[in-house]
Amino acid sequence: MSTLDTHTLPWQQVYARLTEIIQPRPIALVSTQDAEGRLNLAPFSFFNLISCNPPLIAFAPQISGRTGKKKDTLRNIEQHPEFVVATVTEAIAERVNQASAPYDYGVSEFEKTGLTPVPAQKIRGFCVAESPVNLECSLLEIRSYGEGGGAGHLVVARVELLHIDEQLQDEAGCILPERLQAVGRMGGEDWCTTRDRFAYPRPDRR
Ligand SMILES: Cc1cc2nc3c(=O)[nH]c(=O)nc-3n(C[C@H](O)[C@H](O)[C@H](O)COP(=O)(O)O)c2cc1C
Repeated sequence: MSTLDTHTLPWQQVYARLTEIIQPRPIALVSTQDAEGRLNLAPFSFFNLISCNPPLIAFAPQISGRTGKKKDTLRNIEQHPEFVVATVTEAIAERVNQASAPYDYGVSEFEKTGLTPVPAQKIRGFCVAESPVNLECSLLEIRSYGEGGGAGHLVVARVELLHIDEQLQDEAGCILPERLQAVGRMGGEDWCTTRDRFAYPRPDRR
C-alpha cells in the first residue's frame, strides 16, 4: 500500500495522483468573453452537475502552475458573468485539446481551432456550433481555495438554456449516448470515450 500525505507531497504530484484516481471526468468546453467582447474557449475536466432544482453546474479553473496567474476563463467570468458550456464529443476532441494551449490573454481559441462561435440566445455569449449540446449559463458564485499554482476556484453557475441537437434524442427526448459520443478525461494525457457502457436497474426503482 502506497500512502501519500498531501501535506508533504508537492502539489504537482497531488494533482497527478488525484487526476489518475478521480476518473473518468466529464469535460466542459467553456466559452467566455472579456469586458471588450473578446472570445475565449478552454476545456475543464474538474466539472460536474451539482443541482437540478435549481439547475447548477460547477467547474474549477486552477491557478496556472506555469504562470502562477488566473486562467483567462476565470478572468473573463469575473468581468462578464455569463458563459456557455459545450459538450466535448469525439468529433471535436482534438480541436478541444488544441484550445487548451496557453495562448496570450485576448487570443480567441475559436480562431485558433477553427471551432465556430454562434450567438447565445438568453445570455451575452457564444455557443460552439460543432458541439451538439450547449448550455447557456449565468454565474452564481466563485469560491477560491489556496494560493499559487494548482489553487482551485470553484465556479458555480445556473444553467439557463439547454441547446440539444435533436438528432441525439429519441422520441421521449432522451439523449442517446451512442449518438452523443461524449469523451472524458483520465490521468496524464489520457482521454476516454463513452462507447463501453453497462446498465443496472436502480434498486429503488425495481
Ligand atoms: C481535457 C482537458 C481538461 C482540462 N481541465 C482543466 C481543469 O479542470 N482545470 C484547469 O485549471 N485546467 C484544465 N485544463 C487546462 C486548461 O484547459 C488550460 O490551462 C487552458 O489554457 C486554460 O485556458 P484559458 O487560460 O484560456 O482559460 C484542461 C485541459 C484539457 C485538455
